[in-house]
Amino acid sequence: MKYSRITGTGSYLPPRRLTNADLVAELAAKGVETSDEWIVERTGIRARHFAADGVFSSDLGLEAAKKALEAAGRTAKDVDLIIVATSTPDMVFPSTACILQNKLGANGGAAFDVQAVCSGFVYALTVADAMVKTGAAKCALVVGAEIFSRILDFNDRTTCVLFGDGAGAVVLEASDTPGILSSDLHADGKHVGILCVPGHVSGGAILGDPLLKMDGQAVFKLAVGLLESAARATLTKANLTEADIDWLVPHQANIRIMQSTARKLKLSMDKVVVTVDQHGNTSAASIPLALDAGVRSGQVKPGQTLLLEGVGGGFTWGALLLIL
Ligand code: UT7
Repeated sequence: MKYSRITGTGSYLPPRRLTNADLVAELAAKGVETSDEWIVERTGIRARHFAADGVFSSDLGLEAAKKALEAAGRTAKDVDLIIVATSTPDMVFPSTACILQNKLGANGGAAFDVQAVCSGFVYALTVADAMVKTGAAKCALVVGAEIFSRILDFNDRTTCVLFGDGAGAVVLEASDTPGILSSDLHADGKHVGILCVPGHVSGGAILGDPLLKMDGQAVFKLAVGLLESAARATLTKANLTEADIDWLVPHQANIRIMQSTARKLKLSMDKVVVTVDQHGNTSAASIPLALDAGVRSGQVKPGQTLLLEGVGGGFTWGALLLIL
């Protein structure tokens, strides 16, 4: 049997870093009241990065992609598939994947975006796995890249303190030994309204609100239940149990959601890769950012079993089990 396996990881954060204190001060100047204590206690977030004007998701994705290729010992010429998971594309079209492909100099292979918000990276990796396994691609670049700072309402303290910008990438290649073991994806469109950016472009104008809206409590409640069921489904499909998981690499939205999932899966928090404190919620970029942080710190090692899981607007959710 043919498998797909991650052969390199990379990530990139734009240089402008705002601690909670920095953001609290900026918001106070606009009359928006929040505090470091509230943000840390309710979310675990201590800092986030914001991209400069004129920088796009493809630029962040490009830096992450270069590092992933270097780690895999591959060059742009080897890449025959690029999938970018993003909800903050450079343009309405063409896809951020096509723009990134050209910036990377990997022209000619397939390139497209996946839009599943914070579950986007798990969706994109599942699609890439299927294409590599069937021989449709040999060397895939799967990227999560976001600039959420552009769609935040900085007058809404319930959302603007939560998100940040960044990118993560993996190289996925055909392999004779197991890499990706199983995945489990879902969506339920009846929850569109609880997490959305409802605006759209029409006749040269933006119609509707182009900024992020979230019913945080509704998202929180759905997330904790759905993540557990997707995680269990991947274990069942791969004939494994929770005890086989070396690392949980979850979407980094809120430390309390991660703690709850870990508890349900009987995993101690020292088996969970946590970067939300330093990055905030970077949507589709959060899982590959966390994965790369874990790999580069030396904690997450080749041969270990990893459970990736994400949940977000749509409502979408999913999990993916792999051997690194
Ligand atoms: O990435 C996609 C997935 N997204 C998520 O997973 C996010 C899921 N939701 C959450 O993480 C949490 O619901 C939040 C962090 C968004 C909110 O935490 P919470 O514990 O659910 O707080 P809450 O919405 O119940 O608000 C509690 C209080 C409210 O005040 P009152 O009504 O109790 O007086 C809010 O007005 O906290 C207030 N509040 C704030 N206070 C200071 C809300 N935002 C802030 C703020 N600073 N930034």
